[in-house]
Amino acid sequence: MSDLKFAQVFAPSTIANISVGFDLLGMSVPVIGDSIKVTKIKKNEIIIKSIHGDNGKLSKVIEENTAGKPIQSMLFDAKVSWGVEIEIKKGIPLSSGLGGSASSAVAAVVAMNRLLGDLYNKEQLLEYALDGEEIASGARHADNIAPALYGGLVACLHSGKVYPLSLPKEIFCLLVHPDIQINTKEARDILKNEISHAKWIEQSSCLLGFMTGIALNNKDIIFNNLKDVIITPQRKHLIAPFENIAKIVEKYNGTDLGISGAGPTMFSLFKSKEAAEQAALNLGDYKTYVSEVPGAGAFVEKEG
Ligand code: HSE
Repeated sequence: MSDLKFAQVFAPSTIANISVGFDLLGMSVPVIGDSIKVTKIKKNEIIIKSIHGDNGKLSKVIEENTAGKPIQSMLFDAKVSWGVEIEIKKGIPLSSGLGGSASSAVAAVVAMNRLLGDLYNKEQLLEYALDGEEIASGARHADNIAPALYGGLVACLHSGKVYPLSLPKEIFCLLVHPDIQINTKEARDILKNEISHAKWIEQSSCLLGFMTGIALNNKDIIFNNLKDVIITPQRKHLIAPFENIAKIVEKYNGTDLGISGAGPTMFSLFKSKEAAEQAALNLGDYKTYVSEVPGAGAFVEKEG
């Protein structure tokens, strides 16, 4: 067990799905993130002391909070006699498609683990953090959790195994965040249960192309295959400016516009920072971010 009294951890925003891998691929885009401070208290209870940056929308009930729930499970399993107080700073806007619930869950488990003397390994932390993701989206998909925890680009297989992957150097991501909110559960509920044989083959080819580009470290193959013919066509009507923004990124040689997670944030990859920034300048009033990808995962900001 550790002598630490508190630990404060930052976990980054992430892009889930990355167009070709619905629920299976995610990467860290550390432009913003959530920060969670966990402080030991004598009494064996868990208190959410404060939440900033959520406009009062998040629940302080432990079982309903994406940071509280995983901490509750970790404390219970570790059978310790003390409790914790949790302070949450949301840097990621709610329902933005940038993995905010995952970021809070990951920062919480990493901070809690420091207080427990690094009792749990990363695979175990991933499982605990998924308890938090399940509250937000109704499913245990790891495509935001794994990149927020491990950093980088991560394949999250159906078996539950996760594998960090490498991307070629100098890939720049433009994120475009329109000022709307999309509820992840609702954006999952609208998806059809069946797809045609032809679409299945077309999408499999895109995923295979993307993975071939990774295996050969070839940016062109990755970029040319970054297409989604199944999920994006079913969700893009939720994001009014989607088609206009798609035309602009195409003009600046960005990859096909993708939806980050369930949206509304959209993303496109570029070969140069300048091209991504030029595209951003021509988008009008949307909140935009440009960052080299993929970025780092969660890290300890302070402890003592
Ligand atoms: N893979 C998930 C989805 C990510 O697109 O529904 C959102 O949390």
